[in-house]
Amino acid sequence: MSTITERRFVARACLFAVALASIGADAFAREAAAKFGFGTRPSEAEIGRFFSPLPDGRGMPQGSGSVLEGKSVYQQQCASCHGEKLQGGIGDRLIGGRGTLVNADPRKAPIKTVESYWPYATTLFDYVKRAMPLTAPGSLTDDQVYALTAYILFEANIVADDVIMNAETLPKVVMPNVDGFMPDHRPEHFPPVAKTPHQSLGIVK
Ligand code: HEC
Repeated sequence: MSTITERRFVARACLFAVALASIGADAFAREAAAKFGFGTRPSEAEIGRFFSPLPDGRGMPQGSGSVLEGKSVYQQQCASCHGEKLQGGIGDRLIGGRGTLVNADPRKAPIKTVESYWPYATTLFDYVKRAMPLTAPGSLTDDQVYALTAYILFEANIVADDVIMNAETLPKVVMPNVDGFMPDHRPEHFPPVAKTPHQSLGIVK
């Protein structure tokens, strides 16, 4: 049996429940903001973890490393997969293969390595920092990654053995295949690069 009074009571109870729920949601949002830090502006360093540095060096972190330092890190953390002489194994071959990308013989596959194929040295830093070693990506310090970059580029005969890699020197390295890529001039597909990572993310100052 349902009387008008009962129905009003049910309606009020429902409204009360909705009100309670929204207070709960508010409290939850406040708690989450305190706990997870929602709503704060990310720092350059935080954004740097999501954005790759550009070929001209924008976004490269502080730090530096030499060929010798890189060799020692390489032997401990990379050689097991990429080979003592960077010749490849479980992981890709990293050097050699220049001149194999273009040939008229269909039986000869191009050998694509950092040395023969990659157009920008900054990509090497970025890739190693984010993805390597395969079993512990993100575990290397920026100094170690600069050193590894110096070592690999030295073994690839691209830089001298006394090079110090850092945010200034690395973007100046000219890779052998830099002219093997054509820029795409269709702005509707590739709009101009934003000046800052914050702009790309839509976090405008
Ligand atoms: C456990 C094995 C393993 C270890 C250790 C490892 N790598 Fe790799 N690496 C790989 C594999 C597998 C790939 C290919 C990944 C892919 O194509 O997705 C790769 C890819 C790469 C590439 C890209 C090559 C290309 O031409 O695309 C570079 C550069 C590289 N590794 C550098 C390093 C460096 C420097 C270290 C040491 C800090 C390291 N790797 C440690 C397995 C490894």
